[in-house]
Amino acid sequence: MPYTSSLFGGYIVHRIMPIFGTRPEAIKMAPIVRALQESEHLHCVVTVTGQHREMLDQVNELFGITPDHDLNILQPGQSLTDIMTRTMSGLDTLFAREKPDAVVVQGDTTTSTAGAIAAFYHGIPVVHVEAGLRSGNLLSPFPEEANRKITSQIASLHLAPTSTSRANLLAEGVPAEDIVVTGNSVIDALLTTVNKKVPFLDPSLEELADSGQKILLVTTHRRENQGDAMRGVGRALARIADSNPDLVIVLPVHKNPLVREAVLPAISAKQNVLVTEPLAYGEFTRMLSLAHIVLTDSGGVQEEAPSLGKPVLVMRDNTERPEAVIAGTVSLIGTDEERIVNEVSRLLKDPEHFLAMANAVNPYGDGRASVRTVAAIAELLGVGQRVEEFRMSVAV
Ligand code: UD1
Ligand code: UDP
Repeated sequence: MPYTSSLFGGYIVHRIMPIFGTRPEAIKMAPIVRALQESEHLHCVVTVTGQHREMLDQVNELFGITPDHDLNILQPGQSLTDIMTRTMSGLDTLFAREKPDAVVVQGDTTTSTAGAIAAFYHGIPVVHVEAGLRSGNLLSPFPEEANRKITSQIASLHLAPTSTSRANLLAEGVPAEDIVVTGNSVIDALLTTVNKKVPFLDPSLEELADSGQKILLVTTHRRENQGDAMRGVGRALARIADSNPDLVIVLPVHKNPLVREAVLPAISAKQNVLVTEPLAYGEFTRMLSLAHIVLTDSGGVQEEAPSLGKPVLVMRDNTERPEAVIAGTVSLIGTDEERIVNEVSRLLKDPEHFLAMANAVNPYGDGRASVRTVAAIAELLGVGQRVEEFRMSVAV
C-alpha cells in the first residue's frame, strides 16, 4: 500500500527506510532496525537489494528481520555497474510508490552508495551510518573508499562511529551540526550475540571447540586482493599449517567463486585447515571468541576482534579503521606470502608480542550506537533529540 508520513494515534509517524544488501551491512543495520521498530515516532520499512543472497539471508534470519521489499539483484559474477544500476532502478520505482521520509544506508558498499544516490535524486534525506571512514587512497579499498566519499557528499545526516571519523568529515567541509558520533553498531550486534554460545552446525567445529587447540581464524574477500595476492594468502596458510601441526586454521570461505578459486587449491589437502561455508553470525562470533589469532582483510572483523582481545593481522596496506592499530591490537601486514608466514609465526612463538597485542580494547563502540542513531534520525525529522555522543574508552 502506498504511504507517506501519516497521523497515527494523534502524532506524525515518519517512514524510515533502511536499505542494505550485503552481510556486513545487514549485521550493522540489524540493531538499528530493531531500535527503529521500537520507536514511537518512526515507522521502519526494511528494503534489501539482495546484492548478497545466502550471506544476507543468513543474517536477517538470525536477527529475525523480514524485509518489506527485496530487489533481489544478485547475479553470479555481477559487476559493480550491475549492482549500481539494478539497485538504482529498483529503488526508483519503490521510492515513487512508498515515498519514505528518510533512507538509512550503511558504510561503503555499492548497495549503500546506489541507495544514497537514488534517494538524493528523489529529494529524500539520506542518513549515512558509519560515515567518515577514510583510508586516504581512492583505489584502496576499491571501490569502497570512493563509495563512502560519494555518499558523504549527498547525505543529510552523517553518523560517525568515532571522533576520528568525525574529524575526517569536518576536514572535508561537512558541517559539524550534521555529524553525530554514535559508535559503531557492529559492537551492538556483537554484544548481543557473542555470549549466547550458539552450537556450531558443523560437528568438526564443535569438536574443535572442545579440544582447546589453538585456532587461527582467517577470512578474506577484498576485491583488490583477489587473484595473485589471494593465491599468495593460500600458499602462506599452507606453510603455516605445515610448520604448526598443533594449530588449526579455520577458514569460513566467502561465497565469491573468485575467492574460492584463488585461496582453496593450496590448502585443500591440509589436515589442520578447516574450510567451512560462511558461518552464521552467532557461530562466527563464537569462533572469534575461541580464536588465538585472527588473520583477515575484513572491515567488520577488524572492529569486532579487538573488543574480544584477539590479536588481528590485517592483510591490507592501509586501513580506514586506525583506532585499533594505534591501540596496538591490530597490525597491518599486507598480502606478501613471506610476511604473513612470519607475522603469524611471531605471534605463535613470542609470548610477549602476543600479550602486547591481545589487549582488549573497545575503540569502536559501547553497544549503544543504535540508540544514538535512532535519536539522531528523530531529531533530523523534528520528533526527538540527540543523546550523548559515543566516547572512546581508550585514548588514541
Ligand atoms: C561486497 C562489497 C564489499 C563488502 C563485501 C562483504 C561492494 C562493491 N563490495 O563485496 O564492500 O566488504 O561485500 O562481504 O559493494 N556471492 C554469492 N552469494 C552471496 C554473496 C556473494 O553467490 O551471498 C557471490 C556472487 O557470485 C557475487 C560474488 O560473490 O557475484 C561477489 O559479490 P559482490 O557483492 O559483488 O562482492 P563482494 O566481494 O562480496
Ligand atoms: N562474518 C560472519 N560469518 C563469517 C565471516 C564473517 O558472520 O563466516 C561476519 C563478521 O563477524 C563481520 C562481518 O561478517 O561482522 C564482516 O563481513 P565481511 O568480512 O564479508 O565484510 P566487510 O566487513 O569487510 O565489509
